[in-house]
Amino acid sequence: MKSLSIRILAIESSCDETSAAVCVDGIISSNIIANQAIHEKYGGVVPELASRAHMQNILPVIQEALSSANCQISTLDAIAFTKAPGLIGALLVGTCFAKSLSLALNKPLIGVHHMQAHVLANMIANPRPSFPFLCLTVSGGHTQIVLCESPTKMKVIGETLDDAAGEAFDKSAKLLGLPYPGGPLIDKYAAVGNPVFDFAEPQVPGLNFSFSGLKTSILYFLQKQQKEDPGFIQKNLPDLCASIQQRIVSILMNKLKKAVKETGVKETCLAGGVSANSGLRKTFTELGQKQQWNTYIPAFEYCTDNAAMIAITAYYKYQNNEFESLDTSPTARAEW
Ligand code: KG4
Ligand code: ZN
Repeated sequence: MKSLSIRILAIESSCDETSAAVCVDGIISSNIIANQAIHEKYGGVVPELASRAHMQNILPVIQEALSSANCQISTLDAIAFTKAPGLIGALLVGTCFAKSLSLALNKPLIGVHHMQAHVLANMIANPRPSFPFLCLTVSGGHTQIVLCESPTKMKVIGETLDDAAGEAFDKSAKLLGLPYPGGPLIDKYAAVGNPVFDFAEPQVPGLNFSFSGLKTSILYFLQKQQKEDPGFIQKNLPDLCASIQQRIVSILMNKLKKAVKETGVKETCLAGGVSANSGLRKTFTELGQKQQWNTYIPAFEYCTDNAAMIAITAYYKYQNNEFESLDTSPTARAEW
């Protein structure tokens, strides 16, 4: 017999986190995330190793998500998975597992777009934004300003022309000799530094972003300084991190300000891994107070990749009867 509640098991495996979550009537009951430390020594995610680690992690992660939600597998109403975008081998692991479960349990399958899910992470807990809202989604692979009219009606109104904000953090960190992923380390050192170095803000028309020029100007600056003093980076690490972080944050905030002006929408959200950055969170919140916007940021565990955001998105899709057939395939890139 079908239960009255809607219980969804969601799986996320698009990059280097294997995650599973259970959501009951839009409330997250569990969200288990297994990180893959293996990539650290290679200075970036190695796709083949990510797929293998997903294969090892997926069963225990799902079992833990079900048990910590106190959920019997037979009571599930649907199985959701990340369909796109991401590393294709990594996506295939989650997709195949979700398809097998759907077939074995005879329950519907829901495919979720990872970037839509990052945005809807803002709908997981109170206070939730009301529609329409603007979401600045900043991750390792994307930088977008999204105008959201409903959970399923969203439009990208600005995006990066080259590197994503997370890449800007990670590549800058690499230039400073910091290990991957460098974003959180820049955040840590920036907290004890001052933004005394001025890196130029790129002039990009409209609501689009560009970060590759910033990376080049940091590279040339560091090369010049290190030539004069080989200990320059070491001596100035906190100030360098504070300067890089401040510039990335100001690029992001200036475009968001422009988007609010153009759309008239003052409900504003952050999403994606970079929204874990303390400088961005603080500046965004202060800017919102100054400009009289309402600002929302997902809890830390829902900023970086997680299956809870896939589950909440699937909950909306379930109510819209948006299901996938068993011959569905994931895609590395996908418009939405
Ligand atoms: O959303 P996410 O977990 O994965 C993708 O979908 O890409 O984002 C990962 C990105 C990485 O570039 C990482 O360095 C960055 O988020 N990141 C941060 C911080 N925490 C994660 N960047 C700056 N400051 C942080 N505290
Ligand atoms: Zn992501």
